[in-house]
Amino acid sequence: MNDSELIQQVTSLVEKLLKYNHEYYVLDSPSIPDAEYDRLFRQLQAIEAEHPALIQADSPTQRVGGIALDSFSQVQHEVPMLSLDNAFDEEEMRDFNRRVQERLKTTAAIEYGCEPKLDGIAVSLLYRDGVLVRGATRGDGSTGEDITQNVKTIGSIPLRLQGHDFPEVLEVRGEIYMPKAGFAKLNQQAAERGEKTFANPRNAAAGSLRQLDSKITATRPLQMCAYGVGHIVLGQGKALPDTHTGILQQLQAWGFLINAEMAVANDIEACIDYYQKLGTKRDDLAYDIDGIVFKVNATELQQRLGFVSRAPRWAIAYKFPAQEELTVLQEVEFQVGRTGAVTPVARLKPVFVGGVTVSNATLHNRDEVERLGVMVGDTVIIRRAGDVIPQVVAVVPERRPEDAKAIEFPSQCPVCQSPVVVEEGEVVARCSGGLICGAQRKEAIKHFVSRKALDVDGLGDKLVEQLVEQGLVESIADLFQLQHQQVAGLERMGDKSASNLLAALEASKSTSLPKFLFALGIRQVGEATARNLAQHFGKLEAIVAADEEALVEVADVGPIMAGFIRSFFADQRNLDQITRLCEAGLNWPDIQVKAQHQLPLAGQTYVLTGTLETLSRNDAKAALQELGAKVAGSVSAKTSVLVAGPGAGSKLKKAQDLEIEIMDEEGLQALLAKY
Ligand code: IVH
Repeated sequence: MNDSELIQQVTSLVEKLLKYNHEYYVLDSPSIPDAEYDRLFRQLQAIEAEHPALIQADSPTQRVGGIALDSFSQVQHEVPMLSLDNAFDEEEMRDFNRRVQERLKTTAAIEYGCEPKLDGIAVSLLYRDGVLVRGATRGDGSTGEDITQNVKTIGSIPLRLQGHDFPEVLEVRGEIYMPKAGFAKLNQQAAERGEKTFANPRNAAAGSLRQLDSKITATRPLQMCAYGVGHIVLGQGKALPDTHTGILQQLQAWGFLINAEMAVANDIEACIDYYQKLGTKRDDLAYDIDGIVFKVNATELQQRLGFVSRAPRWAIAYKFPAQEELTVLQEVEFQVGRTGAVTPVARLKPVFVGGVTVSNATLHNRDEVERLGVMVGDTVIIRRAGDVIPQVVAVVPERRPEDAKAIEFPSQCPVCQSPVVVEEGEVVARCSGGLICGAQRKEAIKHFVSRKALDVDGLGDKLVEQLVEQGLVESIADLFQLQHQQVAGLERMGDKSASNLLAALEASKSTSLPKFLFALGIRQVGEATARNLAQHFGKLEAIVAADEEALVEVADVGPIMAGFIRSFFADQRNLDQITRLCEAGLNWPDIQVKAQHQLPLAGQTYVLTGTLETLSRNDAKAALQELGAKVAGSVSAKTSVLVAGPGAGSKLKKAQDLEIEIMDEEGLQALLAKY
């Protein structure tokens, strides 16, 4: 190949790859399979490796990160990067609108552009003749830092603008953020490596952009969404649309990601409606938002309104209630769970966050306490987003009081005083008291009667606690010896409720083997595993007799779980309980054991992706395996069905490309219910 042919090939590869990249990261609809993209990418990489002079600044290969910097250099913003005024209620929104109307000397309704306020980091991207030449942080608004190397690694940032009608110089402004799913994965990986995790997606995005080594940034799941323009040199005969939303649509046409929720509101009341509607969707969005930004839509009106100090008069951020707040960790108590796990629980100065008052938060285990570096007396950041239980996400070190106390883990169980042990390879400390421990007994009984286990109607946590505290019940088998008078004599119980409870206990005796196995509370044996064990062995006697070798044959049972199952049934006390339960009349039908090839999903391969809401990934996997399916980690031509929840990404795209059947969670539930 001669030089000009080579240049032509490089140019054509770059162009194709930029297009595919845009389809993938911005449009979310790739036109070619990943493998084809990879092939073209490697082809370009190979040519560039041999002829470094041919590497174009906007070559997609430059997204992987370059040489690490010693420091970021400074950048002067030609047009200052402003911030926004805030509104916290409807009145403040109406006041804002009134001010706008007064300044414009009009009573006519003002049209606003509405967009979510993304919780990330503001960025300025400078394009000259359509090529990205500089990326910068906001800094103090006039001077930012040059993060060009880092922004180039972000897939949704065009390295070159699409089309030809763009201004000679175009500065695009927007937010770089980390979607929730990517954040969760990044933190999980960090935690597994014992590294410090990020408090929230915003900190993760900021930390990722602050890397001097852009190769690290390249590994972080960052997105960029455009929300405006800065410095512009239009060039001959060119113009921009005359509304804010029009400009954003133009940016979209040039290759940027803009927010899918963007809308136009005809007046301030429509803005308030938009705010409320999006508020109800907030937790379901794939990214964190902390409010809605409303901008006077007509650019001509924007110019007439101008700025005050650091904020434009034509825009406002209407904030949502905070999902993070500061409070003080007043004390740490230790709770003992069903399996003896001794969990540190933070008692907090009550704080209103994410719509509720929070006064407790789990600190999980010793590793978590160490990772957070938290002490009693510390000011901590509490996060409660959506239905997720409140978390202590970080400590504010500057606010540590002098008398802060280290969190001491007890060496004895706070309930039964048995030694607390940490088994090898585990992080969780456990009370070694087993069923001697009142706490474990209570929890074991609560679990036994819970909905997914024996499902004893009307036997709630409080009643179980009373029964144990009054000495009426020491173990699960004792439940079935309860007498009417004993129950009727309890606090808040009477004849009627006692009869109801005894009837519910009676009714719960007819159960199924999977439910019974799950109810026993064997460590790590969840519903799905219980089902698999039952399906595999058919009879309780066979499970009791199975050795570890036989147990690991069961779908989803590994050597560790097999060990737990073995030691449960090797304990005479547990066997005695089972005997007593059977004598009391507990019964279930045996299960017809099916050979593997007779199972309904035999020969099929399933892949799970995205978030599942009604069951965990592991439970879904086990349930599918139990029906004979294989569950694989990646999509290939051999995949029969992809189960995709919200947040599904590349696997979903690949499955679509390969025309593989795609099922949502509802479909999966329907499938599982069928068998
Ligand atoms: S407009 C002149 N639009 O919020 C208008 N800002 O204090 C300047 N932000 O750090 C900003 N989403 O990065 C605008 N849709 C949006 C936004 C947004 C997030 C951030 C912005 C800045 C802060 C404003």
